[in-house]
Amino acid sequence: MSKTIIISNRLPLQISIENGELEVTPSVGGLATGLKSFHKDGDSVWIGWPGLTEEEIPKKLKEEVQKKAREENCVAVNLTSDEIDGFYYGFSNRTIWPLFHYFMEYTESDNEYWKTYQKVNQKYADEILKHYEDGDVIWVHDYQLLLVPNMIREKAPEAVIGFFNHIPFPSYEVFRTLPWRDEVLKGVLGADLIGFHTYDYERHFLSSVSRILRHQVDFNEITLPDRIVKVDSFPMGIDYKKFEQAALDHFEGTSADQSELQKRLDHHLEATPDAKMILSIDRLDYTKGIAHRIRAYEYFLDNNPEYIEKVRLVMLAVPSRSNVPQYRRLKREIDELVGRINGKFSTVSWTPIWYFYRSMPFHNLIDLYTTCEIALLTPIRDGMNLVAKEYIATRTNHTGVLILSEMAGAAHEMNEALIINPNNFEQVSQALRTAFEMPKEEQIERNKMLQKRLRRYSVEKWAQDFMKSLRATKENRDSFKSIRITPDISEEIMKQFREAKRRVLFIDYDGTLVNFVDKPENARPDEELKELIRALNATENTDVILISGRDKNTLGSWWKDVPVELISEHGVWMRQIDGEWELSENVKSEWMDAVRPVIENFVDRTPGTFLEEKNYSLAWHYRKADPELGEIRANELSTVLKELISNRGLSVLEGNKVLEIKSSDVNKGKASSKKLIGKNYDFIFAIGDDWTDEYMFQELPETSYTVKVGIKKTSARYYVEGTQKVRTLLEKFRENL
Ligand code: ADP
Ligand code: G6P
Repeated sequence: MSKTIIISNRLPLQISIENGELEVTPSVGGLATGLKSFHKDGDSVWIGWPGLTEEEIPKKLKEEVQKKAREENCVAVNLTSDEIDGFYYGFSNRTIWPLFHYFMEYTESDNEYWKTYQKVNQKYADEILKHYEDGDVIWVHDYQLLLVPNMIREKAPEAVIGFFNHIPFPSYEVFRTLPWRDEVLKGVLGADLIGFHTYDYERHFLSSVSRILRHQVDFNEITLPDRIVKVDSFPMGIDYKKFEQAALDHFEGTSADQSELQKRLDHHLEATPDAKMILSIDRLDYTKGIAHRIRAYEYFLDNNPEYIEKVRLVMLAVPSRSNVPQYRRLKREIDELVGRINGKFSTVSWTPIWYFYRSMPFHNLIDLYTTCEIALLTPIRDGMNLVAKEYIATRTNHTGVLILSEMAGAAHEMNEALIINPNNFEQVSQALRTAFEMPKEEQIERNKMLQKRLRRYSVEKWAQDFMKSLRATKENRDSFKSIRITPDISEEIMKQFREAKRRVLFIDYDGTLVNFVDKPENARPDEELKELIRALNATENTDVILISGRDKNTLGSWWKDVPVELISEHGVWMRQIDGEWELSENVKSEWMDAVRPVIENFVDRTPGTFLEEKNYSLAWHYRKADPELGEIRANELSTVLKELISNRGLSVLEGNKVLEIKSSDVNKGKASSKKLIGKNYDFIFAIGDDWTDEYMFQELPETSYTVKVGIKKTSARYYVEGTQKVRTLLEKFRENL
């Protein structure tokens, strides 16, 4: 039976060694805590790192580690301390993490880290491949494994692969600074579906793909030469029932069940009944804005002295990535800040901040969530922030106020919270006052709305939605209208080719025989290609016709020493082998004077675009323009032109990054059909990549072998992935002659 393979850097279980024995504790962090319930309920295996380096695990305990992992359907990947240094503390947490959270000043570009990152990503990919069987679905998680999707794709091209990024994806302007930006994007694009928490991260990613790799992006789909990749946003939820139930159990328990922490909390509440506790929980990470939070709290106390002794900030910071210098520095900064503020405001019976620097078991988290009437979460940047959601889920009597930074992904879904900018201390201070004074009815009203949404869009629903969408990409692949030319199909075409008495091959040029280049004049045919066309054409009873949108002079000069028929400008001109160019009937050019200035105006306003003037058509090229601006201006120009040329017997062709205006009576369909007259061809083959080639595919007889280059909607019967595959196919014709 097929299974899901989950893969993330860290396993949901953390293994440590205490007194020579293995100890297993749950991992902290949104990814592990969130995904755990999906893993628990489903038929999945989870591959990841158990938290100890290879050197730290004594030989005799190695098998025991795997056994502990297996008990929870996990597979432990062993990483050496060098690998952890370069991959985890290095590239993941000194390069990608700060960069993706907009901390550019913390971002290091170290080639050694990058090399280890590649090596360890390969290690993870190899581990997946050991467990992968046909029909399995692979789900790769987070920024530590950005290269894994493509590494799997290279070995298992048919695999269904999803990737989810749990942290922000930065704007193109920030991402472009990464020296290995191309490799990173290519790595992720090995997936069929790429998920983000919010639409903003999604659009940043799409914009980087289109600007850096120049792939075509249509809405949320990226067209690669051989596949379509879908990108979408899926805001991760929590295991709502688990938190709600834990809170209900907490209230039902007797005092004998109470934890030490709860007793301490209760004791303080009894001593100061009108005081409120403000909760703050995070990993100790500079993205979480913990230092800002403490300073904003100081600002609040400075400016609202009436709250002294009436408020207490309960701050839980979980140790995290302490080998990275910024984290160590942050720890010192926070220790100092807490010390200074407690020194500044404390009274005999009151300290303004309670600070815990440790991980706590689940039931203590519940104690804190249920006891504190205000939660203050002020990340500077945060992919999602599950703590905000967990806090709301445990407020089973619906009271409590959540103050949340607008920089957290969760803020997009939690409008009913008090949303603040963490850099604006006055706003944070005002939100604290509002929280203190908020009537119970308003708290209940806000929380009920939040709870309704969180209950519905739980982590189960999140995972189901992602999986459903991922499976749909596979169905989409399977139901693709045209058929990929497999070796069997290719053999069948060759058989028909051999047996035919009279054959014709219509071959488009740009995007079919040669790849697109920045400057059209640089796309000359290479000698090998010329040789291939020469050989095909020299065969008895075989006509090769190059059919292109190019102007006749360029096409004519590039192919002057090759005996081959040419059709230029989509059919305006035709040249027999060794003959002169002939003009097709029905072409006019008087309209050009009216249209030219309109296009020139678009050229002036859109950097990177240019006007190509052919004898009987005008083309506006925007391949080198900013991709988004290019698409916007192309739509605009197309609308303007359609109005301008209506009833003039002209049409606007929307090609690959080009708009072309020409006589409606001229297109590749009409031109190729004309070539069939009186020839009795019993083998017709047409191949092209562009929208303008669709005319050929539609107008040629149904029995023709029509082939689209690239995966796009098409009327062709078959498709091949790219120009390299076209050459291989044409080589086959030559071999069969
Ligand atoms: P991040 O993923 O950046 O760490 P999130 O807020 O999304 O931030 O997730 C943090 C997760 O870690 C939550 O599920 C929370 O319950 C858990 N967690 C936070 N602090 C502790 C702690 N002290 N002990 C145990 N778990 C914790
Ligand atoms: C964030 C990341 C996770 C990571 C977690 C804890 O949630 O998105 O990938 O596991 O932080 O960080 P750590 O470095 O301890 O794994």
